[in-house]
Order: sequence, then structure tokens, then C-alpha cells
Amino acid sequence: MSKKVAIITGASSGMGKSAAFNLHEKGYKVYGMARRTEKMAALIENGMEILPLDLTIDESIVKAVDTVLEKEGRIDVLINNAGYGSYGSVEEVPIEEAKRQFEVNIFGLSRITQLVLPTMRKQKSGRIVNISSMGGKMYTPFGAWYHATKFALEGWSDCLRIEVKQFGIDVVIVEPGGIQTEWGEIAMENLNKISGNGPYANLAKKVITSSNKNKSKLTPVDVLGKEIAKAASVKKPKTRYLKGYLAKPLVGMRKWLSDRTFDKMLMSQVK
Ligand SMILES: NC(=O)c1ccc[n+]([C@@H]2O[C@H](COP(=O)([O-])OP(=O)(O)OC[C@H]3O[C@@H](n4cnc5c(N)ncnc54)[C@H](OP(=O)(O)O)[C@@H]3O)[C@@H](O)[C@H]2O)c1
Repeated sequence: MSKKVAIITGASSGMGKSAAFNLHEKGYKVYGMARRTEKMAALIENGMEILPLDLTIDESIVKAVDTVLEKEGRIDVLINNAGYGSYGSVEEVPIEEAKRQFEVNIFGLSRITQLVLPTMRKQKSGRIVNISSMGGKMYTPFGAWYHATKFALEGWSDCLRIEVKQFGIDVVIVEPGGIQTEWGEIAMENLNKISGNGPYANLAKKVITSSNKNKSKLTPVDVLGKEIAKAASVKKPKTRYLKGYLAKPLVGMRKWLSDRTFDKMLMSQVK
């Protein structure tokens, strides 16, 4: 039988890149996609395919999926991994930027899923792995727009799962905790740029300082790369995989503590 075909968005760094290598090792034909194609050279060197993808541009999404279908005629796995953290106070993040956050983390992700589904339906098989976050279940200061996208992705994925089960398609959610990738730096850069000087500067600086302090405790990226590849390839996947630094304790506490107690616990970490 020919190799199973997997698309991974956000394969130019972090968990997407690691998942690409892990799925390639498992024998999948991997297509890595991202804007910075130069950062995916290692994928080509190791026998994978790469394609440019900007999730904010519809033609880019259509072209990427069409190219895979022309070459392979099938898509077995879609890993919706690309995303970023638009951090900053609700008051100060421009609505244009909030829309961009949704464009990448939700609408672009939804569009590529829509384009892949007809093929998976015809095949009567397929797997869609959505990379959410522990932040799809709990919250952090200044992450309102980011959490809004991940909370949305949780509910969106649940609906999709029950819609497409009848066609033999599995929908799986991966909820990483704190992981060693570019994500944290980008989120804290955004926070500093947006809220580093105005009325929220005092709290913003504390959040940035505590994030820097925790860097060494974050989970190595390959742990999640392996977990994502497992979620994409095991015969009977779980609906959710929660893994990485603080993921289980924070999601557990959010579930069992009152709102006010959870707020206090959270804010005691950024004093
Ligand atoms: N790291 C964490 O602690 C953590 C925790 C929970 C959840 N997550 C989630 O895990 C996923 C992967 O993040 P990561 O930690 O691996 O971060 P990362 O290293 O920053 O990787 C993010 C990827 O998304 C791609 N991307 C960003 N904007 C894009 C756009 N407009 N179009 C296409 N691709 C775009 C980037 O590629 P280009 O810039 O080259 O386009 C990059 O490959 C994200 O959804 C993130 O929210 C991360």
C-alpha cells in the first residue's frame, strides 16, 4: 500500500517541525507548510515535502491543498498546528490585530479543514488533529484574544468530531502545556509592544519577567512532537491529549477551584 499522506501546518518551527520528523519516521509522506519556507530546509533534506502557506490568505490555503491533491490524490492526516499568541491588554490590542489572531488560529485553520474534508469523506477515512492548548481550558493575564481562539477551537473541534464520525474521520485535540518553542517569545514580544508602556505596563512587565523565569522549566519540544505524531497515527485515538509543563495541574485546578480562587492562584505567580 502507498504511504499515508500527512499535512502539517506551522512546520517551520516548534511542535509542527518536530511532529513532521516524528510522522516521517513512522512512514508517512509528510507535507510541511508555513510562511518561512527557508526554515523548512531540513524537512526537504530528510525526504519530506514543503509548501508555502499563509493562513491569512485564502489563495495560499487553496493552492497548498490543491498541490498536495494533484501530487498524491489523497490526504490521510491534517495537523492544524500553526498559531501564535496575540498577547496584550483587551483595552489596547487593536481590533485589527484581534481579527488577525482569529484569522490564523481559527478561520485559516477552518478553511484548510474545509478544503481537506471532501477528500477524506470520499476516502471514508482521515484524521484531523487540532493543536489547541491548556489555554483552551484556562486563562492567563493578557491572553484574552489567544484564549478566545483556543476556547473556540475546543468547541469547534467537538462539533466537527460528531459531524464527521459517520464518514470514518477522526477529530483529535492536542492540548499542550508550556513547551520550549518560539511561541512564548512571540507572545511576550507582543505583550511588551502592546502593553509595555501604558496603564497596564506594571502588570505586563511582571508577566514578562515571570515568563522568562519559567523558560527552563518548559517541556522539550520533541515530547509534544511525539505526542502529536501518536495522536495522528494510533488506530483508536483519544479525543484529547493534554501534555506538557503545568498542563494537567492547571487544567485540573481550573476545573475544581472557584473562579476567584483560581484568579488568586494565577495572579500570585506574577507578583
Ligand atoms: N509553545 C507553547 O507553550 C504552546 C502551548 C500550548 C499551545 N501551543 C500551540 O501550539 C501550536 C504550535 O506552536 P509552537 O509552540 O510550536 O510555536 P512556534 O514555534 O512559534 O510555531 C508556530 C508555527 O505557526 C506558523 N504560523 C504562524 N503564523 C502563520 C500564518 N499566518 N500562516 C501559516 N503559518 C503560520 C509559524 O510558521 P511561519 O512563521 O513560518 O509561518 C510556525 O511554524 C500553536 O497553535 C500554539 O498556539 C503552544
